[in-house]
Amino acid sequence: MAYQLLQGKKGIIFGALDERSIAWQVALRCHEEGAQLVLTNAPVALRMGEIKRLSEICQAPVIPADVTNMEDLENLFKQAMDHFQGGVDFILHSVGMSLNVRKNIPYTEANYDYMHKGFDISAISLHRVLQTAYRLDAINEWGSVVALTYIAAQRVFPDYNDMADAKALLESIARSFGYHYGIKKKVRINTVSQSPTRTTAGSGVKGFDGFIEYAEKMSPLGNATARQCADYCVTLFSDLTRMVTMQNLYHDGGFSFTGVSHAIMEMLMKQALQEQK
Ligand code: NAI
Repeated sequence: MAYQLLQGKKGIIFGALDERSIAWQVALRCHEEGAQLVLTNAPVALRMGEIKRLSEICQAPVIPADVTNMEDLENLFKQAMDHFQGGVDFILHSVGMSLNVRKNIPYTEANYDYMHKGFDISAISLHRVLQTAYRLDAINEWGSVVALTYIAAQRVFPDYNDMADAKALLESIARSFGYHYGIKKKVRINTVSQSPTRTTAGSGVKGFDGFIEYAEKMSPLGNATARQCADYCVTLFSDLTRMVTMQNLYHDGGFSFTGVSHAIMEMLMKQALQEQK
């Protein structure tokens, strides 16, 4: 159901790769809610071509930008401001990649070039985006920025590898820049900590099926889908959440505050009984 919560608002969506991407679902929901959009992704991702379909549905131009390249980001914001004939009201940062994860390198044997690259793409890029917007005065007063994160920033999930450290940095940048942008222009910046979700980036994590199953059984409401994450992002871009900033907001069906669930206990008890036999 659409409520026209974003009627008249303009936004930039980073990170829609294919239909499974969380950013893809956010773009669709923002479009349904009346927003005008600009879509962006790394040039190499755009070559895969799927984003064209999204761009047609949302009637949104696609502007390539590698989030680690300041020239690309400056060009993106300038072109977006030309397109909208003014500033933007919201930004979704839905970007993440770890080369150590991709190459199956264990956390304790991390390659530091890969680690630097991963931190730049997954975390420092939020600073780069915000700094570019700040310099160009590209975000309108009471604008809203959301970056996607995962609970491995707070608690250990061994196979999440150095993405856990990248997410901790991302959340910290959201807080720190949230202060400065709040003072300057009442722009709010938050991170949304989403349930494990079957996407290209998600499925790259070792043992991902186990992650999803465990989280499903540990969450009173079950895992949140990408579409539900998009609903939540819409509320954060809307005027209904104007005083929410510098927060890490869990969107995980209650996983983050559940110590143990009956479903997990029952599984463990069954296993223990079998072992006794
Ligand atoms: P995805 O693979 O669809 O999206 C990741 C995006 O990052 C892709 O569109 C990719 O092209 C883009 N990207 C990578 N390097 C880039 C660069 N240098 N410049 C510009 N863009 C670049 O996967 P998903 O899951 O939708 O990921 C979106 C965000 O959600 C990520 O930050 C991820 O860590 C986060 N997240 C995902 C969860 C999951 O289980 N899938 C759970 C919690 C958070």
